[in-house]
Amino acid sequence: MRVLSGIQPTGRFHWGNYFGAIRQYIDLQSADQAYYFIANLHALTTIRDKDLLQELTYQAALDLLALGLDPNQASLFVQSDIPEISELTWVLMTGTPMGLLERCHAYKEKKGRGISADAGLFTYPVLMAADILGYDSNVVPVGLDQVQHIEVARDIAKSFNHHFGECFVLPEAKLLDSSAKVPGTDGEKMSKSYENTIEIFGDEKVIKKKIMRIATDSRPMEDPKDPEDDHLYQLYSLFASEEQREELAGIYRSGGFGYGDVKKKIAEAAGDYFRGVWQRRAEMENDAGYVQDVLNAGAGTARAKCREVLDRVQKATGLVR
Ligand code: ADP
Ligand code: TRP
Repeated sequence: MRVLSGIQPTGRFHWGNYFGAIRQYIDLQSADQAYYFIANLHALTTIRDKDLLQELTYQAALDLLALGLDPNQASLFVQSDIPEISELTWVLMTGTPMGLLERCHAYKEKKGRGISADAGLFTYPVLMAADILGYDSNVVPVGLDQVQHIEVARDIAKSFNHHFGECFVLPEAKLLDSSAKVPGTDGEKMSKSYENTIEIFGDEKVIKKKIMRIATDSRPMEDPKDPEDDHLYQLYSLFASEEQREELAGIYRSGGFGYGDVKKKIAEAAGDYFRGVWQRRAEMENDAGYVQDVLNAGAGTARAKCREVLDRVQKATGLVR
């Protein structure tokens, strides 16, 4: 089984990214082959600042390694280090119906809001199809919002295979656990677009401050409360053991507690959970060449695979003499 996924370096990773995606990439890294990449070509559709894109790409690599992505098990690389992907994107583009892309939600939403979209956003799903098909990926772990793009990749692959002969492996989406929808500091889904995130890395004091400012309701302290529909309880559950969770649930049900204490518990539990990861990251930061070496080695493995697929495509289409 070959697993592949990409993550855009459009901001520093937050708790939602970790529990909703990254943790599950790491769980899958022991597959026969796992490819994970930092999608900087996709990020270029939103970040148009050279230093920022470079910085966020590097930080993303460092973060993923600290969080447990093991370069001995999975290949970690930067999307643009594999130039074959761009050639493959063009070939796929020539067989992609406009209608298929017009139905894709990122473009549709932007157009619906009257914002003019560029060709990069419109053809974004074709680049994503090249990312997937270019490594013969079988399984692509993604969040619900990306499932449509895997379907597009399948459609493009099927139509290509039909026209030019069997060339591409048909990929399947593996839906990430959507029950892990992490609430943000306002109780809504945590997302950098809502400015309600709590980052995994950074100054511990700043993180704690954000936790202490999480919005709460104004019910009297003594009222019993249902833990399951409280976002503080949900956040605590991400980090707590079964026992700790049960204990806090009991306190909710009997009432007579303050939300401030729950927030302190969250800060403590998150600190215990991530402390090792913070330490690992600090060590890697002092080893300047390490991340670059990992990315180079990952790109080497990925590129060899992609070259093999592109050779097939060039032969099938008549692009080689
Ligand atoms: P953001 O919403 O902050 O822009 P992205 O869209 O870049 O985050 O998400 C990257 C990955 O993290 C996606 O696979 C998405 O499913 C997951 N993710 C992001 N926020 C959450 C959340 N609050 N709960 C669960 N998963 C999340
Ligand atoms: N578009 C994906 C996202 O925004 C990132 C991505 C790019 C990706 N290429 C991919 C995900 C290939 C899976 C497979 O989250």
